[in-house]
Amino acid sequence: MTDHDARIRHSWQANADAWTRAVREQRIESRRLVTDAAILSAIADGPARRVLDIGCGEGWLCRALAERGSECVGVDASSPLIDSAKALGGGRFEVMDYAALIESGNRLGQFDVLVCNFALLDDYIAPLLGALRDRLDPGGRLLIQTVHPWSACGDEPYTDGWRLETFAGFGGEFSSPMPWFFRTLESWLALLAASGWRLRQLREPRHPDTGQPCSLLLELHPVAG
Ligand SMILES: C[S@@+](CC[C@H](N)C(=O)[O-])C[C@H]1O[C@@H](n2cnc3c(N)ncnc32)[C@H](O)[C@@H]1O
Repeated sequence: MTDHDARIRHSWQANADAWTRAVREQRIESRRLVTDAAILSAIADGPARRVLDIGCGEGWLCRALAERGSECVGVDASSPLIDSAKALGGGRFEVMDYAALIESGNRLGQFDVLVCNFALLDDYIAPLLGALRDRLDPGGRLLIQTVHPWSACGDEPYTDGWRLETFAGFGGEFSSPMPWFFRTLESWLALLAASGWRLRQLREPRHPDTGQPCSLLLELHPVAG
C-alpha cells in the first residue's frame, strides 16, 4: 500500500460519520442538483439488473437503484461506511478494497453495470480497471463519474498530480484531509483505452444556474478480445 493510498483510506475511516451525514442530509449542492441524477440517468439508459457499486460509501446509490428494481452489490474499503450502508439496506454490502476486489475473481458474480461514482481517487488504478472487464456480462457497461478536470483544476497547473481535499466546503465536521490524484481529460481517456475500455459516451452534467460542468461522466464498454 502506498502512502497516498493509506492516507485516502484513513480519511474515509475518520470522516465516515461526517460524510454519511453530508450525503444523507443532501448538503453537497452539486450532488443534490446535478450529479446524483446524472449517474442514475446514465444507469437507467440500459439494462441494470445487477449493479456493482465500487467505492459505494454509505450506499445511497445502491438504495436508489434497489428502489428502481436493480439488485446491487456495494463494496468499499471503509468499514464504518459499509456499516452505515448496511444499516439502511438496499443491497449486499461488503468491506473490500480495490486490491481485494481484483483478487475476488467471480465471487461477487457478474454484472451488467459497474459504477464508480467519485470513487477513483488513487493514481494507480489501471489494475482495477483491467480486472473489472471480467466482471461484466456480455453487453455490460462501466460508468465512471468523477470531478470534471477543467473545473476541478482550480488555479493549479493543468497536469496530472496529487491534490489535497480539505473538505472545507463541507462544513467543519471532517477531521482528515484526503489526497486525491488529479487527471487531465487526456490522461483519463488514455488510461481507460490502455486498460481495455472503449468510450461509448462522455457526458458533462452542468450546474443549472452557472452552466459549469459539475462532473465528467464516462460510459465505457470493454474492447473485444
Ligand atoms: C467520495 S466517496 C464516494 C462514495 C460513493 N460512491 C458516493 O457516491 O457517495 C469515495 C469512496 O471511495 C472509497 N474508496 C477509496 N479508495 C478505495 C479503495 N482503494 N478501495 C475501496 N474503496 C475505496 C472510499 O472509502 C469512499 O467511500
